[in-house]
Amino acid sequence: MKEQVDLIREAFGYIHRFQGKTFVIKIDYSIISHPIFPILVKDLVHLQKMGIRIVLIPGAKERIDEILSQYGITWKSAANIRISTPEAIPFIKMAAFDVANKIMTLLAENKINAVIGNWVRARSLGVRDGVDFQSTGTVEKIELNLIHKVLAEGLIPIFPCIGWSSTGNPYNISSNELAAILSRELQAAKLFFITEFGGIFKKEYKTPDNITISEEGLLSRLNLREAEEFLKLNAGDEQKSGLEVVALALEACRGGVNRAHIVDGRIEGVILEEIFSNLGSGTMIYSNQYENIRSMEPGDTPQVLRLMQPFFEKGLLLPRSEQDMLADCGDYVLYEVDGTIHGCGALHIHPQGQGEVAGIAVDNKYAHLGIGNKIVAFLLEKARRLGLTRIFALTTQASDWFLQLGFEQGEVKELPEKKRELYDRSRNSRILIYNFPE
Ligand SMILES: CC(C)(COP(=O)(O)OP(=O)(O)OC[C@H]1O[C@@H](n2cnc3c(N)ncnc32)[C@H](O)[C@@H]1OP(=O)(O)O)[C@@H](O)C(=O)NCCC(=O)NCCS
Repeated sequence: MKEQVDLIREAFGYIHRFQGKTFVIKIDYSIISHPIFPILVKDLVHLQKMGIRIVLIPGAKERIDEILSQYGITWKSAANIRISTPEAIPFIKMAAFDVANKIMTLLAENKINAVIGNWVRARSLGVRDGVDFQSTGTVEKIELNLIHKVLAEGLIPIFPCIGWSSTGNPYNISSNELAAILSRELQAAKLFFITEFGGIFKKEYKTPDNITISEEGLLSRLNLREAEEFLKLNAGDEQKSGLEVVALALEACRGGVNRAHIVDGRIEGVILEEIFSNLGSGTMIYSNQYENIRSMEPGDTPQVLRLMQPFFEKGLLLPRSEQDMLADCGDYVLYEVDGTIHGCGALHIHPQGQGEVAGIAVDNKYAHLGIGNKIVAFLLEKARRLGLTRIFALTTQASDWFLQLGFEQGEVKELPEKKRELYDRSRNSRILIYNFPE
């Protein structure tokens, strides 16, 4: 029973985390035509009812093949892309909308309203390496305002693999590409590729060293650097479906999507498993929000002091000398982009499981980009890992900022003894406290 209760608690945590967030879900046609698909749809319906915004992109490749063959239309491919002729387009549309309708019907059975729309502007892929791709197109623009309205109304938008030019010409577009672009444009929390091949199996590819491999032999997780290395190692093998998806997932994560998951749609509950546990069963590509954070080295102190100087002058930070900084060097972390330090912050450890977040400064040129937030989140995570239970901060001007990061107003008497003795009454800094949940 205790286990079940813990499980429910864990699920509540995840529900809370994802409420109001957008998940973009691309489903291969082989999964849509699989007997398990109605169960997957039910899971998606549950997610939608929990307040997650669902965007669906059904793949239609095999259905298009079927319909074209049925009508005796042949086609050619180049660079793994179908060359859609203008004559084939009405049949391709028929197949794409047929698949979208199938999903619509299943959602209706589950009492969920959905809409199929023409929100994608496309243009021809044109001529590439001498090959004319005719009516095969690429995404040019997405009507984001309309999609946001649809999502705000609690509807599920369904995107067939068709886009239209500004003059109304239909083009056959790639559902995978569309999913990656949509996830980026909507700043989705997650992008899913629900496939038949599952995730990325180590035995089928060349893989970078030190990658986590699951019991099933899958690459469990790749950060952006690892995903990039993976693609480089396998360059030239592009006919393997996994590579296209990893490349698109990487692009989406670089554009601000937190996580992209490549999962096997034939596994019952795969999407729930991926969302509600730390142990997903596919391959995850993730952007590490702490990627730009590193420890401070003694050689960094002059640049860090320069960054802090304007805040010393305004009385926002207590002045520190080079010696002070060197003495506390190990406590500081820096936020660095391309060799330039944009921000800094420290975690000082005090007795009895207490910690102090201090010296948080973000260069004005880079203010309002969430850098301060990331530095504090990183320091809190570090404190948690060190087993600290209570973190405090002293500030004259940034108390509201700390409050919105989850700190609470505190009092001098709550500070550790040594800090209390050193408290400067004339400076009268506010005290902010962060207690880790039990
Ligand atoms: C406070 C500070 C670290 C914020 O850095 P940042 O990277 O710009 O912060 P984020 O981007 O994470 O958060 C910005 C949000 O917090 C708000 N914010 C920033 N400074 C604030 C302050 N002093 N009080 C209240 N809110 C503040 C902004 O309005 C902003 O909201 P917006 O993006 O919707 O406009 C930075 O302004 C700074 O270096 N201040 C001087 C030093 C200082 O006071 N340090 C804290 C004491 S240790």
